[in-house]
Amino acid sequence: MYLTDEEKRMLYEDKREIVRKSMKILITLGEIYGAERLLKINNAHSPGVSYRVTGDAGLNFVKDASKEGCFKVPTTLNTIGIDSENWEKMYFTKDFALKQIEILDAYRKMGGISTYTCTPYLVGNIPMMGEHIAWGESSAVAYANSVLGARTNREGGPSVLAAAITGRVPAYGYHLDQNRKGKFLFDVNVELKTERDFAILGYFAGKIAGKEVPVFEGIKQRPKQYDLMALSAAVASSGAVALFHIIGITPEALTKEMVIGNQKPIKFGYKEYNEVLKKFSVEKEVDLVVIGCPHFNINEFAKIAELLSGKKVKSDFWVLSSRQVKILADKMGYTKIIEKAGAQIICDTCPVLAPTSPKGYRTLVTNSAKLAHYAPGLWNVKTGLLEIEDCVKAAIKGYWGGKK
Ligand code: F3S
Repeated sequence: MYLTDEEKRMLYEDKREIVRKSMKILITLGEIYGAERLLKINNAHSPGVSYRVTGDAGLNFVKDASKEGCFKVPTTLNTIGIDSENWEKMYFTKDFALKQIEILDAYRKMGGISTYTCTPYLVGNIPMMGEHIAWGESSAVAYANSVLGARTNREGGPSVLAAAITGRVPAYGYHLDQNRKGKFLFDVNVELKTERDFAILGYFAGKIAGKEVPVFEGIKQRPKQYDLMALSAAVASSGAVALFHIIGITPEALTKEMVIGNQKPIKFGYKEYNEVLKKFSVEKEVDLVVIGCPHFNINEFAKIAELLSGKKVKSDFWVLSSRQVKILADKMGYTKIIEKAGAQIICDTCPVLAPTSPKGYRTLVTNSAKLAHYAPGLWNVKTGLLEIEDCVKAAIKGYWGGKK
């Protein structure tokens, strides 16, 4: 692999072992994937920050790295295993919380920015079109590549750490023009009105596309930011999609010719839409409602505050967000309304990255296809995928569907 003088110095001469080791990790990765050189990056987003995911091995790795490591580029941190300011009031155990805090301290020592969110693009980490970055967290990667036009592979914790320490990534995969073209064309014949509709499309397409790039044509209405957040999360959870294009909407797909050839499209009509919905239907008591996967933006806060205003919920109700966006919600008065209704705003974490809930929930409803996909396996719950309005209705009644 070609290395610049600076890269050679980092590999052979840097006094800090963690820098030499990081270069070796990146070069080995690059050689596995056929990279001919390294690329400079401007920022990183680190996954694998939750103690639930890393365990003691990850904790020790990061603590060791922090003894001499320092991030060369701004690096935001992904969702963690606790609400960092409220863990004592919630169900997180002290043992777990203390281990999690040790991980956070180590990252902070290296310069990691304490965002603790899967939506770093809502809190200041907004890469530009064509910019090379090193991001982990599948939903954020799909959003950065597809909606922002930045360039990243789906990185893991160790590779982001190495990239952040050296400011480099190997030039392969989605960093290269030739790998950013579409493979599967989806003809969308459904009017997509809500973020759940976009999540359903993403869930359907991810299953077919796997690791490849899906291209959507026929979407007439311009999606809002949260629609694209929902689509990114869904397509990256039923499949391992890191990049998608929407013809006429996402920045690399101004025309169909720019992203895909003339191939037979896969149909996404109401039949396919309903098949996804059927997989996630519930008709019974609802123990828990979770919204904010990916973490809420401020407009979603506004909407949920309006829906909950003057109401009381019977089911447990979690609204997930980054702390930075919650501060805005506090200022706008949304937090008060939501909490008065009996819902709980949880920052920094989510059910997928937090330790298992001790309450023995049996039924969960959400408007997120990603959460609906993971929750049954993680928590042994029956999961319903509802519109956000229906999530609120279900929480107020304490059940959904059925005869009650
Ligand atoms: Fe974010 Fe957790 Fe959902 S990391 S995308 S809230 S599963």
